[in-house]
Amino acid sequence: MEKKNKEVKLKNVEVKSTPVDVAVEDESGFVSKKGKFASLLRGMKDILPRESVYWKKMYHAAEDISEAYGFVYTETPILEDAALFIRSLGRGTDVIEKEMYVFEDRDGSKVCLRPEATASLARAYIYHGMHTYPQPVKMWYYGPMFRHDRPQAGRYREFHQFGCENFGVHDPVVDAELIVVAYNFLRDLGIKSIVHINSIGTAEDRQNYLIELTGYLRTKRGYLCEDCKKRIVKNPLRVLDCKNEQCQPIIEEAPQILDWLSVSSKSFFTKVLEYLGEADVPYTLRSTLVRGLDYYTETVFELYPEETGEGSAQSALGGGGRYDLLVEQVGGQPTPGCGFAIGLERVVAILRNAAEKKAQENKDERQILDRQVVYFAHLGEQARQRALKIIENLRRAGVHLYHNLGKGALKAQLEQANKLHAANTLILGQKEMQDGTIIIRDMESGIQEIVDIKKLKTALERKMGVES
Ligand code: HAM
Repeated sequence: MEKKNKEVKLKNVEVKSTPVDVAVEDESGFVSKKGKFASLLRGMKDILPRESVYWKKMYHAAEDISEAYGFVYTETPILEDAALFIRSLGRGTDVIEKEMYVFEDRDGSKVCLRPEATASLARAYIYHGMHTYPQPVKMWYYGPMFRHDRPQAGRYREFHQFGCENFGVHDPVVDAELIVVAYNFLRDLGIKSIVHINSIGTAEDRQNYLIELTGYLRTKRGYLCEDCKKRIVKNPLRVLDCKNEQCQPIIEEAPQILDWLSVSSKSFFTKVLEYLGEADVPYTLRSTLVRGLDYYTETVFELYPEETGEGSAQSALGGGGRYDLLVEQVGGQPTPGCGFAIGLERVVAILRNAAEKKAQENKDERQILDRQVVYFAHLGEQARQRALKIIENLRRAGVHLYHNLGKGALKAQLEQANKLHAANTLILGQKEMQDGTIIIRDMESGIQEIVDIKKLKTALERKMGVES
């Protein structure tokens, strides 16, 4: 029998009509003004025009590298059944215990905003019978994830990930390939990174290790944080992932999982490292790296910016690993898998800092960018009427323009062109319309040139020093 939709009581939602406040970003990038009608939710972030250049660049870099390595773009819903993540990420993990946005849907079912996408892709793999496709099935994705974490620099409640997943093959070359893709994605964006890598073995390898680890942690119980005291019983491996300062000396002295790997897990891991060496990917072995999600088996890795090197989890630009039990855990047939995800807000922060530093060091860089801005100004009502058609024709010819058709006076339009640092402004008046020409005004020298509108693209390319 179908459950009746619950009535949602919007009456109780308080809608205050206090004046809209100006959003101010504090140092960590968070809006500090709260409680106003149009404020931003804590931990959420708008992607503003000044950052869009980086977002577009990242998307293109992600698409380019994924498709070159044979991954196919895939999109899954933002809203999923909460049970999917509880089964796969594990009850003892922070994401499930503290961070997942779970709520009751109108039919009473428990749904959530996806905290990550690997489990979603495993669900899609099963749901669409992808085990019948030629294996491996390689998918890439790009989109928002949600975790109700404590907001701070580099940590948001809505954040974006680019990720690649490979389902269906258990081979060390697959793990290495994914690391190579993640590493080179960052490299293509000009970011040098270093890979931290470890193997946490198979579930069987871990059985004996966990007995050893639990015994060790019990002897150190008094020195651990409150969360870790509970983890000893619930999920001892998670202690190794604790970020609390107090626990670090205990973690460093803990028995190392690498010593407990079976011969086959060891040789699998050695192969992954050999492939990375061959591919010139710099890596460092980190015996305490276990990752914060329960679905991993064998290879686990994280990528850090080269200059910060050893870093806190906040500075990890991305992470991933092998998850040979995941598909089975969420209801499919045993299917090996491996993947990674990169946190895009953290990548943008690096790109923005680098661009600002460069712009300060070298003002010419800014001028090179500015040289690309072309402003379109109209003079008179008839020119305004024709403007949209001309702008569209020029767009089709590959000329992209800034304009403000709402402004009437030429002086005001030229002022705006100056504010946008446009190198050239196109001016269309009545005479030019009759002659089929347009004026190109060099904004720095003020020199104007009349050109045939059909030859405008070539004329602009010549002026901007772009080779056609
Ligand atoms: P994860 O380590 O939870 O792994 O997230 C991957 C990356 O997403 C992190 O390294 C970080 O850059 C970014 N990230 C995570 N949480 C936040 C946050 N609250 N704010 C900003 N950025 C964040 C996964 O999500 C796995 N699904 C990765 C994977 C794919 N494993 C196998 N396949």
